[in-house]
Amino acid sequence: MYTTIIILLILSTTTTAIATISSDITALKAIKSSINPATIPSYTCLHSWDFTSDPCSPPHVTHFLCGLSCSGKRVTQLTLDPAGYSGTLPPIISQLTQLITIDLSDNRFHGQIPNSLFSLPNLQTLILAGNSFSGVIPPAITNLRKIQTLDISHNALSGSLPKTLASLTELTRLDLSFNQVTGPIPVLPKNLIQVALKANSLSGDLQKQSFTESSQLEVIEVSQNSLTGTIPGWFFLTPSLQQINLSNNSFTRFQILKPVNSSLVAVNLGFNKLSGYLPATFSAYPMLASFTLSYNNLKGRIPWEYTKLPRLFLDGNLFIGLPPKDFFSRKTFIISGSLGDNCLKSCPAWSKLCFKSQKPCSVCQKAYRSGKLESKS
Ligand SMILES: *[C@@H]1O[C@H](CO)[C@@H](O)[C@H](O)[C@H]1NC(C)=O
Ligand SMILES: *[C@@H]1O[C@H](CO)[C@@H](O)[C@H](O)[C@H]1NC(C)=O
Ligand SMILES: *[C@@H]1O[C@H](CO)[C@@H](O)[C@H](O)[C@H]1NC(C)=O
Repeated sequence: MYTTIIILLILSTTTTAIATISSDITALKAIKSSINPATIPSYTCLHSWDFTSDPCSPPHVTHFLCGLSCSGKRVTQLTLDPAGYSGTLPPIISQLTQLITIDLSDNRFHGQIPNSLFSLPNLQTLILAGNSFSGVIPPAITNLRKIQTLDISHNALSGSLPKTLASLTELTRLDLSFNQVTGPIPVLPKNLIQVALKANSLSGDLQKQSFTESSQLEVIEVSQNSLTGTIPGWFFLTPSLQQINLSNNSFTRFQILKPVNSSLVAVNLGFNKLSGYLPATFSAYPMLASFTLSYNNLKGRIPWEYTKLPRLFLDGNLFIGLPPKDFFSRKTFIISGSLGDNCLKSCPAWSKLCFKSQKPCSVCQKAYRSGKLESKS
């Protein structure tokens, strides 16, 4: 009898204790009501958000089945299902000050990302990928002092990035791919491991200051932009760097320095405007396994040292001479690659490396003739 009363008392006090604080409830209500109800089908998380019951109080049998998590009385995670919700994100979201995670990916949110979002003091994960957010990248982004993962890829953001992201000291993964971001690559923060800025309109050349802080950087994906100038030798020596994708930009030259402690595995410099000769030094990078230089204006012979690379794409350049014999011997490691669409003498048609035919003689003669003129003048 007494035990039952005590249990009931405990139960009722815990329920009261958990009741979500009212400012969090107000914010959640505002978030739901800024979404077009026609885009909230009955099987979705948001449909189960019924404010006749308390968002943070368990058990969630019929209401608040998903889309948020709490710690005590506070909402800590806002992770909506990719149901195609269409709406804007109201600034009042910043009232959810205990939020650690926001994931609204693959919906149809549009309009600006509210500036107030960047004042959330505890935010570690912000994923807004695959929506239609527009407007310029807010400078306030540098206020996310605890952010670890920032993914706003596949939206319609424009404008340039702040000059430096150095204040984002916890950030390990940054993805702004597939937007309309302009301007140069900013100073990257010191604990960044992966940066993806693919398919934007970034311009300018690679500045040393962008990379000096980020000694943990393993992956750089900035293909399909408008970067120009020389790819400097130091760039390939950025400590920790394993994968580089600079394809589909407008780089005109590249320099290779002798490797020091390099962990570089894959480099793609295809579809640029690179001219000059192929340096044998690149093959000295001890971990390098995949190298792509397809569709540039590179000339001269292919150094025999390159035969040790398992993946090698040199197609669409102006390479001349006989390709190194080892490319075609059974002992070589080449698993995939291409030497096609060059000016090579006798690339054996039976080898898949020579699948694409070589350029017509006239094209090659013209390229080398104008080259000589260039070097004389
Ligand atoms: C590099 O970027 C190009 C163009 O965006 C893409 O086709 C390629 O798959 C990327 N990755 C690698 C490893 O080359
Ligand atoms: C890269 O650029 C080439 C030439 O401009 C283009 O044909 C190709 O589709 C581009 N690749 C990607 C992945 O955008
Ligand atoms: C090479 O790497 C090792 C281990 O990571 C480190 O101790 C050493 O200082 C590095 N050497 C140079 C020249 O960077």
